[in-house]
Amino acid sequence: MPSLTWNASLENNLAQMDETHREFVECYNAVATAAPEAFLAAFDRLIAHTVAHFDLENRWMAAVDFPGCHRAEHDRVLAVMRDIRKRVEKGDMFLGRRLIEELPAWFENHVNGMDAALAFHLQSIGFDVERGILEPLAEGEQRGAGCGCASMNSPEPMSAAASAA
Ligand SMILES: [Fe+2]
Ligand SMILES: [Fe+2]
Repeated sequence: MPSLTWNASLENNLAQMDETHREFVECYNAVATAAPEAFLAAFDRLIAHTVAHFDLENRWMAAVDFPGCHRAEHDRVLAVMRDIRKRVEKGDMFLGRRLIEELPAWFENHVNGMDAALAFHLQSIGFDVERGILEPLAEGEQRGAGCGCASMNSPEPMSAAASAA
């Protein structure tokens, strides 16, 4: 049975982000270990978590004018999850189980790539994550941002199945 274990390699040293990622791990494991009749309800909780999780990061990115590829990746992954949720509801458990098998690799890659780049950027520009406020720039100071796309080397989960939809 696939599972995700919280470990130090998933920490990006940004408390609110790390907390959200712990929650993802919990919601994910609840789906991975759910009995067939409980799968859809657990999957719905994972999707609800993912909506809030991506929204939080998207708001930070909007506040600091971060490159859009990270947000686009969120949108694609959520679209895949919603599409597969519909198929599971119609009885296609195979795709649901396959998504669950593929999510850990995607999650670890995303957390260590795009999310790590975002956390690093927010910290380096002094963004107040709690209040969602960016401190004003000092004279002559510049804000550069790398979105972390270059470190993404695994495709989104179920990209083949989603494009066949
Ligand atoms: Fe994240
Ligand atoms: Fe993210």
